[in-house]
Amino acid sequence: MKILIVGSGGREHAITWRLAQDECKHELYCAPGNAGTSAIATNISAGAEDIDAIVSWAKENKPDLVAVGPEAPLCKGLADALSEIGIKTFGPCKAGARMEGSKAFAKDVMISAGVPTAKAKTFTDAAEAKAALPEWGLPVVIKADGLAAGKGVIIAETKEQAEAAIDDMLVDNKFGAAGAEVLIEEFLEGEECSILALVDGEHAVLLPSSQDHKRIFDGDKGPNTGGMGAYSPAPVVTADRLPTIRDSIIMPVVRELAKRGIVYKGVLYAGLMINNAGGKKALNGSDINVLEFNARFGDPETEAVLPRLGGDFAKVLTACADGTLKDSDVVVKDEAAATIIIASGGYPGDYEKGKEISGLDEAQKVPNAVVFHCGTKEVDGKVVTSGGRVLSVTALGKDLREAVNSAYEAVNKISFENSFHRNDIAHRAFNRG
Ligand code: AMP
Ligand code: GLY
Repeated sequence: MKILIVGSGGREHAITWRLAQDECKHELYCAPGNAGTSAIATNISAGAEDIDAIVSWAKENKPDLVAVGPEAPLCKGLADALSEIGIKTFGPCKAGARMEGSKAFAKDVMISAGVPTAKAKTFTDAAEAKAALPEWGLPVVIKADGLAAGKGVIIAETKEQAEAAIDDMLVDNKFGAAGAEVLIEEFLEGEECSILALVDGEHAVLLPSSQDHKRIFDGDKGPNTGGMGAYSPAPVVTADRLPTIRDSIIMPVVRELAKRGIVYKGVLYAGLMINNAGGKKALNGSDINVLEFNARFGDPETEAVLPRLGGDFAKVLTACADGTLKDSDVVVKDEAAATIIIASGGYPGDYEKGKEISGLDEAQKVPNAVVFHCGTKEVDGKVVTSGGRVLSVTALGKDLREAVNSAYEAVNKISFENSFHRNDIAHRAFNRG
């Protein structure tokens, strides 16, 4: 098959790599890709959000499938534009991508579908939002409605912090259009996990569970990042939870969207809060709740989950686009996976780019390890850093301990000036009481 993968991060390298593992060989292209994808695919110069450039490439080159990695092009209508010219796309239409692009829309869908989620109210007026705060107690969660590059959720510990967040969004416009509407939401206790579901408009297949590590420092300290590592499976999702997640969360959303005329195709990623440990219960009494939906694969969860999949990946992605997922086989290997992000020192704040990376070949030689590129580029034949998250190093193992050990062995072969990684990936899985 001829397949175009849209995006340039670790997630897209992992999608491209997994397609390259299929028994039947594909012709792979990435728009724009990175120094990692260029070794297994042809990078084209179209940017991931340049809808016109991607559509015009697709018109000329007629790929059998386009798989879209990031949310921004989906929210801008890339899948719709491709479908207009008869190109199959893995990734939802613009209306479906609102499950990620508008938290108020996602909440409305969840409420109509009876899906358990934190109680929330939406506001466009700062005074009204502030007046409502006493209903919620503390901490309270303030969310910008739209896409805010992971910065639009504020967990306010005090009334002053909550009011400041409301002012930032509704008065000072610090989040632009994304903050023109805010949600005030109940704070949920528990442990988070990610469930990536493949959806074909009518049916869904849940991929293995995973958990990412959002904070920059060990022990989940410091500011939030795009994700500093991930592992799969996540033991917080016990086997008995999966049918519940499918039947009470994913399928009701797919059906509710269909009822609204939205045929959702692609990944429906549920960020869940699971409260196994007791403590404060959610107002709805459920010990499993949706925090958010995303309209795409997670990053770095993808780098941990896709290496666990066997079988023909292109067939599965195509089945999502064709609406034939029911008949396709998603094979999951009985191995665990761990992914460790190597970042540029200073990330998620300011950092320098252009640092030469060494040890990539040695790292790839570690058994069962694979190095995905997130923020790299090739300059004069050398691979240099070009982003905050630079590399995503994954290893498989017979269990999580073995996977984590191999991943760190590979990480330790790689170096560049001011590189940084967390040393405690999967700590929640290892320290379960
Ligand atoms: P979101 O973009 O909605 O997933 O929020 C980003 C992060 O904020 C989540 O991964 C959680 O760590 C946290 N978060 C969001 N909503 C809540 C909530 N209602 N209760 C507790 N934490 C939350
Ligand atoms: N790892 C979190 C995300 O992809 O949104």
